[in-house]
Amino acid sequence: MSVALGILISGHGSNLQALIDACSDDNFPANIAIVISNNFNAYGLKRAAKANIPTKVVNHNCFGSREQYDDKLAEILEGAGVELICLAGFMRILSKTFVDRWKNRIINVHPSLLPAFKGLNVHQRVIDAGVRFSGCTIHYVRSELDSGPIIVQSVVPVAFNDTPDTLSAKVLETEHRCYPIAVRLIAERRINMHEESLVIEGVGIPDHTMINPNSF
Ligand code: GRF
Repeated sequence: MSVALGILISGHGSNLQALIDACSDDNFPANIAIVISNNFNAYGLKRAAKANIPTKVVNHNCFGSREQYDDKLAEILEGAGVELICLAGFMRILSKTFVDRWKNRIINVHPSLLPAFKGLNVHQRVIDAGVRFSGCTIHYVRSELDSGPIIVQSVVPVAFNDTPDTLSAKVLETEHRCYPIAVRLIAERRINMHEESLVIEGVGIPDHTMINPNSF
């Protein structure tokens, strides 16, 4: 039993790489059916090609409306047999129609401890706010920006001399550990949704600062 993933990217694709690496293990319960980018120059496309994963570029400038663009995405994802959509640095807002249609089958990675610091330019805003801890969140996607039930979080201390670049590097490292964990939990059907909150079987209330990938 292996869950087919569709991964949506716009850029560097380091989270995509983390999922490629995870899926290369025969014991990982998911496989990547397709990678879609809205940006022809996304480096992640090269990562996918190197791993022999089918890719598609769907340029948003070629569509008259967000709904038309999202319909094309849905057509490609369904054609590839995708069961779970993973947003990995996909720099587009998806329409409510699309998100509702794929409810609880789209997840996203965000570089903060949601619901704090939604949106863009996260690390600069974290530093400006003077908070002592940041981190990453993997969550189910809802139509409101950067919202939805949280699956996994991991905490990163903010050092007094962190810059957006140094903080980003530390947070990315945890994203790469957390994203495969979230995919595994879903693929193994260990997540039970209770309206807008969830319970993870066999984990209870996880201590997110102590995530040990081997324990999932
Ligand atoms: C990550 O920081 C992710 O949290 C955010 O966009 C960035 C994507 O990085 N949504 P990459 O393309 O996976 O390297």
